[in-house]
Amino acid sequence: MPQYFPRNANAFAKWLVLGGSVFVVALMIALAFYARVTNNAVGVPVDQPVAFQHNLHAEQLGIDCRYCHTSVEVEATASVPPTETCMTCHSQIRVGDPQLAAVQASWDTGTPIEWNRVHDLADYVYFNHSAHINSGVGCSDCHGSVQEMAEIWKNEPLTMGWCLECHKAPEEYLRPRSEVFNMEYERPSDQAALGTELVEAYHVNTEKLPQCSTCHR
Ligand code: HEC
Ligand code: HEC
Ligand code: HEC
Ligand code: HEC
Ligand code: HEC
Repeated sequence: MPQYFPRNANAFAKWLVLGGSVFVVALMIALAFYARVTNNAVGVPVDQPVAFQHNLHAEQLGIDCRYCHTSVEVEATASVPPTETCMTCHSQIRVGDPQLAAVQASWDTGTPIEWNRVHDLADYVYFNHSAHINSGVGCSDCHGSVQEMAEIWKNEPLTMGWCLECHKAPEEYLRPRSEVFNMEYERPSDQAALGTELVEAYHVNTEKLPQCSTCHR
């Protein structure tokens, strides 16, 4: 039989297969690691470069969410405030305090504070805050009791299944628009009737909500 391959081809093929599987395993580990670093676990507080506390600012001091998350009602993103927003108070309050050193340094140098993201959907998913806010979905429905948290954690898994639970039956969740920023809101016992009314009043398109193209475009 003629020899088409050099004598050492078998050994080469073996190494190729072995090398290939090592590569695949390494890739899987890398992907799993990537998912861990990019997706914070539910219920685990995320460390930040400044020990900013939502419970102190939003609950004790009573500062409205929109004072810092200015675009949440009108844009896709809620936005995280620039240092300037902090300095409206901290140019007078606790000046020189070590807890605020990184805020002062950011202000002095004009370098933004690099906040770590708590929620971060994959790029192939479209999300829009204003659409939810204007349809009567409350901050706490998705983010939990932020006003009680020092460091924020992700309160919900933000998986497709979780989004769809509401997109398939929004009437079970909707509240009056006036209650969207009420972090203590509790659904009434007649939620079914109220929800159905609000779906109508806010022109929620229940046919479009569960369709793939609503979130993947
Ligand atoms: C005084 C300013 C301020 C106020 C008021 C405020 N926040 Fe924030 N918020 C921040 C800053 C700064 C961050 C980024 C640091 C962090 O995650 O703690 C943030 C982060 C967040 C995040 C996480 C963002 C991410 O990375 O995914 C959520 C959710 C949030 N805020 C919700 C709220 C809600 C709800 C309210 C009102 C109850 C509120 N915030 C009030 C300043 C504020
Ligand atoms: C509306 C005013 C106001 C704004 C805006 C504000 N703060 Fe504060 N902040 C306060 C007050 C008041 C205190 C508490 C002072 C005290 O109790 O001594 C405080 C305390 C703090 C502390 C110290 C907490 C501790 O452990 O004692 C940090 C850190 C802080 N703020 C960070 C920030 C950051 C970062 C921003 C911008 C995202 C910000 N603050 C925006 C009013 C404000
Ligand atoms: C329907 C669920 C839902 C509601 C309601 C909601 N959020 Fe979010 N929020 C999210 C998701 C999902 C993300 C991550 C978005 C991404 O990664 O693109 C997010 C991200 C954020 C962020 C990080 C910055 C950004 O825009 O990505 C802040 C701050 C925030 N939300 C604040 C709020 C506040 C304040 C409210 C209430 C006025 C609110 N959210 C209501 C789901 C929600
Ligand atoms: C508690 C209920 C609820 C949850 C949870 C929820 N949504 Fe929605 N979503 C709605 C409602 C209500 C609307 C408004 C529909 C309308 O106006 O017809 C909406 C609208 C949208 C839209 C359309 C926005 C536009 O501008 O057309 C997108 C995209 C969307 N949601 C993505 C998501 C994603 C992604 C998640 C999960 C991370 C999610 N939603 C979680 C209730 C919810
Ligand atoms: C309400 C919003 C929403 C709708 C509607 C939706 N998806 Fe998704 N989809 C998501 C989110 C959120 C993720 C997870 C993103 C992440 O993990 O960061 C996702 C992930 C995916 C993935 C990646 C694999 C996985 O399961 O994580 C595929 C594939 C996918 N969606 C297909 C579809 C198809 C097909 C439809 C229509 C039948 C659909 N989606 C409808 C929000 C949605």
